[in-house]
Amino acid sequence: MKKILDKYPQSEDQLIEILLEYQMEKDDHYISKEDIVDIASYLHIPESKICSVLSFYSFFSDKPRGKHIIQVCKDVPCYVSSTVDILKVIEKELGIRINETTENKQFTLEQTSCLGCCDKSPAMRVNDRIYTHLTADKVKAILSEYRVLKS
Ligand code: FES
Repeated sequence: MKKILDKYPQSEDQLIEILLEYQMEKDDHYISKEDIVDIASYLHIPESKICSVLSFYSFFSDKPRGKHIIQVCKDVPCYVSSTVDILKVIEKELGIRINETTENKQFTLEQTSCLGCCDKSPAMRVNDRIYTHLTADKVKAILSEYRVLKS
């Protein structure tokens, strides 16, 4: 990951960008303890500073995740539009619960704060793509698309 660090100035202002790129580039999409040590050393900041950033933002993970990360919005406008039902459909389809990863490491299911499209709720994000106006059938179709992409 040194090639990522080399692209950024050694300034704490770069921390979020570096963490995002690390997480995106790694096959298991998470920030490990070793990553924290490397980044802290490069930016000359305490490791605790990075840990606090990781725990503050829901889009960062300190645990290994699957190839496709599904994040279902948990905030009120989506909640009242049946995200609970959407979550149940995904859990049943993939055989996992929230914050779990499928055995084949293809999918991780998470919840997230508002995705900025409350008027089109319920909403979820898969990797970097947002899906809105979700229904059970729409969610099943979306999951099928990503299953095809796995190979
Ligand atoms: S509350 Fe779900 S997108 Fe805003």
